[in-house]
Amino acid sequence: MNFPKGFLWGAATSSYQIEGAVREGGRGATIWDTFCATVGKVANGDTGDVACDHYHRYRDDVKLMQALGLQTYRFSIAWSRILPEGVGKVNPQGLDFYSALVDTLLEANIVPMVTLYHWDLPQALQDKGGWAQRDTMQAFADYAHVVTQKLGDRVTRWATHNEPWVIAVLGNMTGEHAPGLQDPRIALQVAHHLLVSHGMALDAIRANVRGAEAGIVLNLSHIDPASDALGDREAAQLWDGHLNRWFLDPLFKGTYPDDLWAFYGLLAPEVGANDMAYIARPVDFLGVNYYTRHVIGAGRETPFNLRFVRTSNPYTAMDWEVYPDGLEQLLLRLHQDYRAPALYITENGCAYDDVLADGAVQDSARRDYLEAHFAAASRAIAAGVPLKGYYVWSLLDNFEWAWGYSKRFGIVYVDYKTQARTPKASALWYRDFIQAQQ
Ligand code: FCB
Repeated sequence: MNFPKGFLWGAATSSYQIEGAVREGGRGATIWDTFCATVGKVANGDTGDVACDHYHRYRDDVKLMQALGLQTYRFSIAWSRILPEGVGKVNPQGLDFYSALVDTLLEANIVPMVTLYHWDLPQALQDKGGWAQRDTMQAFADYAHVVTQKLGDRVTRWATHNEPWVIAVLGNMTGEHAPGLQDPRIALQVAHHLLVSHGMALDAIRANVRGAEAGIVLNLSHIDPASDALGDREAAQLWDGHLNRWFLDPLFKGTYPDDLWAFYGLLAPEVGANDMAYIARPVDFLGVNYYTRHVIGAGRETPFNLRFVRTSNPYTAMDWEVYPDGLEQLLLRLHQDYRAPALYITENGCAYDDVLADGAVQDSARRDYLEAHFAAASRAIAAGVPLKGYYVWSLLDNFEWAWGYSKRFGIVYVDYKTQARTPKASALWYRDFIQAQQ
């Protein structure tokens, strides 16, 4: 493998998944607090109330990152710690928490990348209609302004949204995620408002951060048709449009893809006069979250009339296919079709049923997964893709949304009873790998 000089290796987390302390430091409630409190929504009734207790343990967690030789760390800010009601009164304690975290990272020589929105919308805003309302876009831009004013002297790398597809579709179409709506019309309007508010937040970031590197993080997949049959190819094309192009085309070409616009028909979003110009503001980077590929055939699963096809490759504990070649192909395709000035792998990793035994976790499947995906990234770089860094998901085992604590994605094992952290074998391997790159 070969990575360019200055390539950054790190790990990622998000606020609700690790912080806990949901009623401390002046934090306001979020849609995930509400969702977790709703019976039947999250596995085992798990909540983010304590999570990894990172709010209290962040100094130790940064020491852990340092011990692993991480060069960069991607985390997200809980909007409701900054503005407990989503708008209006700023909570200085929230700003101070993230400011201290940033200082601790910088002292440890770890480059921060901050995500402004990783799904924890202030509940007060959801009560007014959430992302389906245009007002929420301005609220997000105002929040971006407050945060970048405070941290912009020390943080240059900013991502606006994490995975608008997941927010819109799982949150508002299938209802698997907060706020748990099942309304495709709302979901597509939410997706649109997320994209517009991304552009508005870019402006706020650039106004406050000298030398800003600003972008957005998308969940993208490599998609293969189940066969060469026309029906399978059309189904794969549709899913690619829904998952990938619906977000990439407006961001990089300023228009929604025609085929999907026609397919959605009356479900397509209302678009305001200046919206597309905001969405297509040039980014400094595109963040790519890649976990698996999708093999798609014609079928009967509504609303898209397609089916997900299993392959003979290994699958993770999420039942996601392990397919590193998909990362290489995705990166090549992104570079060819969209030409982002820079790309980061902002998330890549896997869940397995890890067992702590004699003080160690022998997660060789995770090590193999990471090694194979690093190699795929290296091949893409050799072919000309401007990939600048790689964040493993995740630093810690954490609250995996609707799956609660039942899925372990960390390179560090967390004993949720004691909060003890144990680097898994994959973390030690990663440490040595990073060192060998220097
Ligand atoms: C991504 C999310 C992240 C984590 C991983 C497994 O979709 O961004 O928070 O849940 O999946």
